[in-house]
Amino acid sequence: MKICMIGSGYVGLVSGACFSDLGNNVTCVDINKDRISKLNNGIIPIYEPGLQELVIRNLKHKRISFSNDISNSIKKSDIIFICVGTPTKNNKADLKYVFNAVKSIKSNLNKYKIIVTKSTVPVTTGDKIEKILNKQKNKFDVVSNPEFLREGEAIRDFQYPDRVVIGTNSNKANKIMKNLYLPLIKKGSRYINTSRRSAELIKYASNAFLATKITFINEIANLCEKSNIDVHDVATGMGLDERIGSRFLRAGPAYGGSCFPKDTRALVHTGKTFKTNLSVVKSVISSNDNRNKLLLDRLKIIMNNKINKKNITFLGVTFKSGTDDMRESPSIKMIPSLIKKGAIINYYEPTGPKYELKSKNVKFYDNIKNACKRADLIIIHTEWNEFKQLNFKKITKKKNFKVFDMRNLYSPNDMKKNKISYFGIGR
Ligand code: NAD
Ligand code: UGA
Repeated sequence: MKICMIGSGYVGLVSGACFSDLGNNVTCVDINKDRISKLNNGIIPIYEPGLQELVIRNLKHKRISFSNDISNSIKKSDIIFICVGTPTKNNKADLKYVFNAVKSIKSNLNKYKIIVTKSTVPVTTGDKIEKILNKQKNKFDVVSNPEFLREGEAIRDFQYPDRVVIGTNSNKANKIMKNLYLPLIKKGSRYINTSRRSAELIKYASNAFLATKITFINEIANLCEKSNIDVHDVATGMGLDERIGSRFLRAGPAYGGSCFPKDTRALVHTGKTFKTNLSVVKSVISSNDNRNKLLLDRLKIIMNNKINKKNITFLGVTFKSGTDDMRESPSIKMIPSLIKKGAIINYYEPTGPKYELKSKNVKFYDNIKNACKRADLIIIHTEWNEFKQLNFKKITKKKNFKVFDMRNLYSPNDMKKNKISYFGIGR
């Protein structure tokens, strides 16, 4: 198939590269010229394991190309995937990028095409797109095909999805979309065809449910801290019940990233539009918003209220491991609060320095040892593998240093044996 991905970010680039690897002819377009020129030179503008090899392999075989010429790329394609950002503005999904993309499609609808929303868009967005394009004389179908990939695991998630959801009432579009995904279906992925609105809601409901699961275990972790229980035991015991499942039950800092925070807020707004009170999702949002403050209060207790002039080292600052994405990372809120209290912040981040943290009181180091050398407190903020086997006594010079492991990577008993002042989450 000839495919055009509008938007070459985490979703457009990853899914475009994966579709090309399945033998399709893919053009990834973007309004960001620098991004496209980098991609044409084989430089991947985001950190995503395995993506570089995938892109280079398909560039070599001429199955993928990158372009700023949006009009021409739309004209020559049969399926157009909208993969632009849908950030929230005033707690509502801001669809300006989506509708700009639709504008480009409208003026280049030269033959039958399937227009697919892969961006996460609120219920009824497909209806609105259809209305805008209806004035065109050429036939088309608007399909919702939400994307469920996780950053850091994006390629695997795309190639082996739990399910492919196609929201359309058109038999023709459904047949073409099923054929496009056939190689994944043959490997065992479930395929479901629903109404377009259902597909749009499946995406938001899934993200909100996962965010709820995390928030639930985070609150149970708060209780464990006060009642001398290890949340790890509780999560294991709960997760063995197949109705609950063990995944997304890792207690930690507030959930972050470019999706859970914005999608939960946008879902509540959709509820409002349809006069439905989504009270569970609302309390998840407020519990998660409160979590940074809660962890900072805990940190104060760990430091005996002495934060002024203390060296605090963050290991990892992105919202999770395996990505360079800083969107809604807890570190963005925690670090300025600590600086206000007089702390000196050092950090090591495997994907390099972050402009979001630029300040005279924040210093980036390109290795763990130098970042931790003067640390009074080491905070394990993300769960990169390279943080899992550290010899803290060797990397720090301070005698009475402490470790706050926000990802529970270490065993409290081992730390006790090694006489390290160690604090985890929910233990
Ligand atoms: P992103 O910000 O990384 O990429 C979006 C890209 O679209 C940018 O490069 C931007 O320049 C480009 N763009 C904007 N307007 C354009 C236009 N009119 N024409 C061409 N290009 C345009 O965003 P993302 O993280 O890839 O997310 C995209 C969508 O997918 C969002 O709705 C998001 O919620 C959803 N989603 C994201 C993930 C994820 O892991 N990041 C997973 C599933 C779904
Ligand atoms: C999430 C979903 O998992 C994807 O299915 C979805 O496609 C995507 O959002 C999206 O819509 O964009 P992502 O945000 O990349 O993917 O990363 P996750 O692995 O889900 O982590 C999200 C946040 O939850 C992170 O802050 C992570 O640290 C936190 N988390 C996750 C926990 O605190 N505990 C867990 O057990 C799992």
